[in-house]
Order: sequence, then structure tokens, then C-alpha cells
Amino acid sequence: MIVGAGPAGLLLSQLLHLQGIESVVLERCDRAYVEARVRAGVLEHGTAETLREAGISTRMDAEGMPHDGTELRFARARHRIDFATLTGRHIVVYGQQEIVKDLIAARFHAGADVRFEVDDVALHDLDSDRPRVTAGGESIEADFVIGADGFHGISRDHLADPSVYERTYPFAWLGILAEAPPSSRELIYCRHENGFALHSMRSPSITRMYLQVPATEDIGDWSDDRIWSELTTRLATDDGFELTEGPLLDKSITPMRSFVATPMQQGRLLIAGDAAHIVPPTGAKGMNLAIADVRLLSRALGGYYQDGRDDLVAAYTETALRRVWRATHFSWWMTTMLHTDPDGDAFSEQLANAQLDYVTASTAMATSLAENYTGLPYEQGWSYR
Ligand code: FAD
Ligand code: PHB
Repeated sequence: MIVGAGPAGLLLSQLLHLQGIESVVLERCDRAYVEARVRAGVLEHGTAETLREAGISTRMDAEGMPHDGTELRFARARHRIDFATLTGRHIVVYGQQEIVKDLIAARFHAGADVRFEVDDVALHDLDSDRPRVTAGGESIEADFVIGADGFHGISRDHLADPSVYERTYPFAWLGILAEAPPSSRELIYCRHENGFALHSMRSPSITRMYLQVPATEDIGDWSDDRIWSELTTRLATDDGFELTEGPLLDKSITPMRSFVATPMQQGRLLIAGDAAHIVPPTGAKGMNLAIADVRLLSRALGGYYQDGRDDLVAAYTETALRRVWRATHFSWWMTTMLHTDPDGDAFSEQLANAQLDYVTASTAMATSLAENYTGLPYEQGWSYR
């Protein structure tokens, strides 16, 4: 039984199906809403491989945009981090909602039981061998319940005695989707005295961009003109960068938070993705972590059903957390380096500038950024040495 049809829940259902393990997916929202939700855009090298392994990569491989590097921009100058040279790996820019569409299509094609608009899911008997989920007047027994219901879901509340680690940031991201060709071939992460700006994309004709705004900001205070003007100011370079504008298709504000709840399991309940942990989006890690969790879970559950092993399920939290904490640190580091801190002082500002100077001047530091950004290997005990 899987609660939540985000990337984590849907992908797990697909990976289990490929091993002959069937599941039911229960989703609170309707299908159109889930397929239209604009969120992540950057896939780690291994995430793209996992989607290929799941058999849902045809459109990603045709329409996704492989990027061999990214730009760090500060003090009106551009600095490229070359992933391909530093790590031999790349990322793929492909929208999360496209992955969700591809997964839903694949699941329905295989005759899967995926139910939308189920708004009264409740979990029972999680510490027994036959946990139950009730929803829509029905009671369904399962071997395992997977909580893939995102940060605002219900599954995390069933952890008996969780440890919670949390940091909120005094700023948010205002995100836009614009009908305009990208103004750069690669992503641009920009630090500016007015705040962070990010230039990303979804296709050769659609640009995705973000602006750091105060945590309490009201989207109503940001007219389209104000957004373009602020993006132009922050992204300006001494060599004359030009931003291509276009009509806005989407506009929203996202709070920034780091959050980890552990253990990620309770009896027969296993929690994955945003339900267990959140990172600020600056490192582009959230969906990638959700996918790494369910890749691990699919192997643990495969071991349980195919080889009668329960050690992999038992070790799930410990195995997953190593990657979770690495990504949590990387996301915090990218965030503090690239944002202006409204509560900070001149000292923290100089530290951020020193980090940017170092990361763009030192091959060792640039390699560290590149290997975290393109994604660390999945294997237990990974090491780059
Ligand atoms: P979700 O996508 O949140 O899915 C959970 C699902 O569970 C939802 O469909 C929800 O409706 C459903 N649900 C909730 N409660 C219940 C319930 N009680 N019963 C049934 N269903 C329920 N990550 C990256 O890796 N790269 C990026 O570039 C990136 N950029 C981002 C930009 C923005 C603006 C935002 C907001 C996020 C970004 N992220 C990024 C993070 C990424 O979107 C999330 O980490 C990802 O969606 C997590 O997937 P999930 O399946 O765990 O959770
Ligand atoms: C995006 O394209 O939505 C995106 C890209 C990089 C990030 C966050 C979001 O770090």
C-alpha cells in the first residue's frame, strides 16, 4: 500500500511492479492537479538512470536537456562549473510534472490500481504483520505501508518517537514559468546584493526562474513588470547579459526549509521522500533524494519478497540517511553561499563571498560542488577515492 502519487510513490509502484510485486497507490488530489504541479527540474545522473531502469525514460531521453555544467554568477561576472570534466557525469533538465505524467501513464498501461481524490486515508496496525489502510469506507490490508505523501502528509505522524532536525530560512523563492526561450544554455545560480536569482528552463521555448524574496512575501506585491525588472538587475553582467522576457505561465512562492525526521520507519510503515525530509531547493536535491529513497526501498522489498530477507528493510533508515544528510548539508551550503541573509551581518556576507571565490578558483572545491550536484553514487559505502 503506497500513500501519495508524487514522484516517490509512483516510481516505487513502478519499480516494484517490474519485480512482480503489486501495490495500490492512494492519492488525495486529482490526476490533473498532480500532473500540472510545477516543481523540480534537475535530475541527477543516477536519477535519469533510475528512470531508464524503470522503463519510463522515452520522453525524458527525447525531450530532456542534458547539461554538462552550470554557471555561478556573482559580482557581475560568470564562472562555469564543468561537471563533465570534473566528474564525468551530467544532469538532465526535465520537469518533475513530466516524470509524474510518464509514471502515471506507465502505471495505468500496466493495469495498476492508482486511485486519485482519496481524501480520508488513515493508517492502522502498523506494528503488526498485517497493517491496514482505511479510505473511502474501505479497509485494505497489506504487507507494508509506504508513506510517500510529501511534507504535509499523514504518515510521518505515525512515527512513535521520531528525532526531528530542522532549520527554517528567513527567505523564500518566488518562482515563475515564462513563455520565453532560455537566455543561457545552462542554469545560472546568481548571488546579488538584492538577493539570489536562478535562471533555469523546461524546454527550448520555456524559461523557469526564481528570485529570493522575504519569507513573509505576498505574491500580490509582485507584478510581472517588477519580477522582470528584478531578474534583470540581479542577473546583469559586465559583459552585457541579456534576459529574454515573455508572458508568465505560472507564479508562486515557496518557503525554504531543511528538515529531517528519523527513523524513516515504524513497524511495517516505511517513509520516503518529502514525507521524511525536506531540503531548500538551491541544491536541486529534493526530488532526487525522493527517488534515491524509493530506489533503495524497491531493492529492500525485492529482497524481502524474492529472497525472504528482512535485513534490507530493517536497515532502510540507516542506509537512506547517509545520502539524506549529505544532501542536507550540500543544500544548506549552496543556500547560505548564494543568498543574502536579511538577519546576517557584514561578516556572514564576506564568508559567502569567500566561498564563491574559492569554489570558482579551486579545482578541488569545484569538484566537490560538481560531484554533489550531479549526484553521489548509490552504492553502500560509496567513496570517490
Ligand atoms: P510530493 O511530490 O509532495 O508527493 C506527495 C503526494 O502525496 C502528493 O501528490 C500529495 O497530494 C499526496 N498526499 C499528501 N497527503 C496525502 C494523504 N493524506 N493521502 C493521500 N495522498 C496524500 N527537487 C529536485 O530534486 N530538483 C529541483 O530542481 C527541485 N526544485 C524544486 C523547486 C520548487 C519550487 C519546489 C517546491 C520543490 C523543488 N524540488 C526540487 C523538490 C521536489 O519537488 C520534492 O522534493 C518532490 O516533489 C518530493 O517528491 P515526493 O513524492 O516525496 O512528494
Ligand atoms: C528548476 O528548474 O525548477 C530548478 C533548477 C535548479 C534548482 C531548483 C529548481 O536548484
